[in-house]
Amino acid sequence: MSAPLLEVEGLRVRLPSRSGAMLPAVDGVDLAVHPGEVLGVAGESGSGKTMTALATLGLLPHGARTEGSIRLAGREILGLPDKQLRSVRGREVAMVAQDPRTALHPMLSVERQLTEHLRHHHGVGKKAAREEAAELLDQVRIPDPRAALARYPHEFSGGMRQRIAIASALAARPSLLIADEPTTALDVTVQAGILRLLDRLRRERGLAVLIITHDLGVLSSIADRLVVMYAGRVVETGSTADVLGSPRHPYTRGLLDALPEGGTTTMRPIPGSPPALGAVPAGCAFHPRCAHAREGCAGEVPPLLQIAPGRATACPVDPFVRPDVPVEVRA
Ligand SMILES: Nc1ncnc2c1ncn2[C@@H]1O[C@H](COP(=O)(O)OP(=O)(O)OP(=O)(O)O)[C@@H](O)[C@H]1O
Ligand SMILES: [Mg+2]
Repeated sequence: MSAPLLEVEGLRVRLPSRSGAMLPAVDGVDLAVHPGEVLGVAGESGSGKTMTALATLGLLPHGARTEGSIRLAGREILGLPDKQLRSVRGREVAMVAQDPRTALHPMLSVERQLTEHLRHHHGVGKKAAREEAAELLDQVRIPDPRAALARYPHEFSGGMRQRIAIASALAARPSLLIADEPTTALDVTVQAGILRLLDRLRRERGLAVLIITHDLGVLSSIADRLVVMYAGRVVETGSTADVLGSPRHPYTRGLLDALPEGGTTTMRPIPGSPPALGAVPAGCAFHPRCAHAREGCAGEVPPLLQIAPGRATACPVDPFVRPDVPVEVRA
């Protein structure tokens, strides 16, 4: 496989609490995205998905502290000065933010927002940039794209603004797209269209995509590999087929059991809720909610153990395979 485009290693993000204490929102995350690959990040609310994405772009909330390494095409970008980071964001990485209010500038026309990167970072002329922008709007299913270019964000519905934000991120011709819940607000047909567009761009242009969503259905249709996060840590990773088809961590199993199955009502939500920042349980953070927890689970934080090439789980109990035998670690 080609070298990763994005490589995150040992990423820690601490956020200041009201009392001034620094609380860990991301606690030692490793992940990699290769050119042309779609990596999905799953996990309940508060698991640190957005903070991981924002750290990658240097857009964390004020006062946040980071540790670890984030390399883009082999170059360390964690801790780069703002000016250099802005240039990375303009040229190489684009983001579709979870909060749609921040995605578009309210005072700039759609045309300006979709053509600025093309004109200034890629040297595309005004007319050609407008053509490319109209084409993108058409691909995200904005009716009458040419007329839409002359309009302003407030003239569109929320769902349309989200689609324009996706077009605007892609208009920068990034090599990496970070999309945080990009299709959550959209109806299923539009959502399917956007997923097809991303799939085509990764095949045709080698676009790498880091997609964050609660929606395991979206991930199963588009992601090559998955990272499952809980309380700021990766608890399971592997190919999408392996992770969703034969989950090895009780948390991943819990997320799948909580899904409605083919319209029936067999869904079993995970009991309890994820811990608040600063109240992460000792040992395996999931143990208070885990039906398979044993005494040792409250001790050390379980490491992410490789159980097969490209496949790892942070549950040494591994109740789904052999209930009494710890996972065998393969190098
Ligand atoms: N600006 C902030 N200041 C302090 N804490 C924050 C801030 N933003 C998020 N947090 C906390 O950081 C932790 C991780 O949040 P994050 O937004 O990364 O979660 P998430 O996995 O993206 O969740 P969701 O699925 O709800 O988007 C949570 O406990 C959250 O409450
Ligand atoms: Mg989030």
